[in-house]
Amino acid sequence: MSALLETRGLVAHYGDFQALFGIDADVHEGERVALIGSNGAGKSTFLTSIAGMRRSAKESIVFDGAPIGALDAADVAALGIALVPEGRRLFPSLSVEENLAMGAFNRRKGPWNLENVYSLFPALREKRRAPATSLSGGQQQMVAIGRALMANPRLLMCDEISLGLSPAVVKEVYAALGVVCSEHGVSAIVVEQDIELARTMSDRAYCFTHGFVSLSGTSTDLTREAISAAYFGV
Ligand SMILES: Nc1ncnc2c1ncn2[C@@H]1O[C@H](COP(=O)(O)OP(=O)(O)OP(=O)(O)O)[C@@H](O)[C@H]1O
Ligand SMILES: [Mg+2]
Repeated sequence: MSALLETRGLVAHYGDFQALFGIDADVHEGERVALIGSNGAGKSTFLTSIAGMRRSAKESIVFDGAPIGALDAADVAALGIALVPEGRRLFPSLSVEENLAMGAFNRRKGPWNLENVYSLFPALREKRRAPATSLSGGQQQMVAIGRALMANPRLLMCDEISLGLSPAVVKEVYAALGVVCSEHGVSAIVVEQDIELARTMSDRAYCFTHGFVSLSGTSTDLTREAISAAYFGV
């Protein structure tokens, strides 16, 4: 089975500084892939490169068989790749529903609409008229995920969605993500610093160390010890 997303030798630079050194990674249809690694390992850079927020060599990112490395962010989004960015980036002056509606701008055809997002995250339905920033951190994260889903992505990329949330809310958010992938066939890449969480919520995981893939495998095969070793580069 060919992958929905492939990166081959993907590199990224910030000026003279090289952040990614030839990343080879795959994501298959409906698969949940975790990205693990310490601060500065290049996880966010990997996601923003795929999202077209920085240009890459054309052939180094292939989506559904087509090279997309040279496309800009709007063209990448139109193909069905959505990013839930680090720190959520909600529109503070807009209500929950207006924030969700922003995600539907230039949306692809597909099943996601306000009703489905509210079914996935019932807490948001009650708060639909409230300013997004008046919500709890967990609910704001649900808005950010819902907004990304409104575009009807085939690949949903989430950057540290569990950061600062209580264990119960983290569980709820990842359960919802599981439903999105298993019932709707969406693929996901999730950056998650918590190793145990990353293992339990994913089918496969990649560990990044200083811009390299230091370990990869199916989440049931990767032991906590192996990930810890790769994580800390020991
Ligand atoms: N705008 C930028 N300008 C210069 N260097 C940057 C910039 N953004 C990131 N970097 C550097 O690139 C490297 C990778 O950063 P990146 O944000 O991708 O890491 P990360 O794995 O997401 O880290 P974190 O866990 O802290 O979010 C780091 O060394 C970082 O300092
Ligand atoms: Mg990051």
